[in-house]
Amino acid sequence: MSYDVLEVKPLTLRIGAEIGGVDLTKPLSNRQTSELRDAIADYQVIFFRDQPLDHESHIRFGRVFGDLAIHSGVAGLEDYPEVIQIHADHTSKNVPGENWHSDLTCDPIPPMGSILCLHTVPEVGGDTMFASMYAAYDALSPKMKAYLEGMQAVHDGDHVYRPLFPDVDKKYNTSIHPIIRTHPVTGKKGIFVNSSYTTEIVGVSKDESDAVLGYLYKHVMNPNFHVRFRWRPHSVAFWDNRCTQHLAVWDYFPQTRSGYRVTVAGDKPPA
Ligand code: SIN
Repeated sequence: MSYDVLEVKPLTLRIGAEIGGVDLTKPLSNRQTSELRDAIADYQVIFFRDQPLDHESHIRFGRVFGDLAIHSGVAGLEDYPEVIQIHADHTSKNVPGENWHSDLTCDPIPPMGSILCLHTVPEVGGDTMFASMYAAYDALSPKMKAYLEGMQAVHDGDHVYRPLFPDVDKKYNTSIHPIIRTHPVTGKKGIFVNSSYTTEIVGVSKDESDAVLGYLYKHVMNPNFHVRFRWRPHSVAFWDNRCTQHLAVWDYFPQTRSGYRVTVAGDKPPA
């Protein structure tokens, strides 16, 4: 893909690019918008530097890619329900996203993408790692691809959110999705199970399900599928949840890392 208005610097061969030549605090031109759509399709996660988004510009940027979803597990800000805070400091007992996951796969319609802007970052550490589920799928053996084709798995929000919010009386979502998902824009196949939400494969014994999921969770940890993002204040990461997983590294306790995220609504993964 060629880019005329954006500066696009790929960070690895398989996933991730840093994008320049755009000010996300301002409305985008049609050309910028269409090149950003191309960039997220080409690189799966794109990063921006020096973008001091306020809630309004953050929401406006998110809406370029679709409706914004209200997070089904974490309460949004009072005045901006589509915006959630991502925060950890010296009082934190856990941080959101510490295990490999794609956002909210417990939802019947999981989100297309998520856009995170951090305003406060630790002196060192606090990186986010992203894994390409296309690369992970491509590296499966033909026999494993054939085995997984057409299979489905259960994604459960309860065991993710109940421990984080023990005082909240609420039923969290559980959904069933295909294990191999075809991306609606690129047509590429990717692995769509993750160690945070996915609990079992439908229609096989628990032993078989545990063994296969365990294999896939280990497989996606291969660094050949990864890009690791080092945050600076006002960096932005925009990832496509349909073809990536991510993990927030909590190696900076007791320092503070803080910012806000919006979630772009998605489509039902085709069965
Ligand atoms: C998340 O949205 O899963 C958190 C990512 C991060 O804090 O880097």
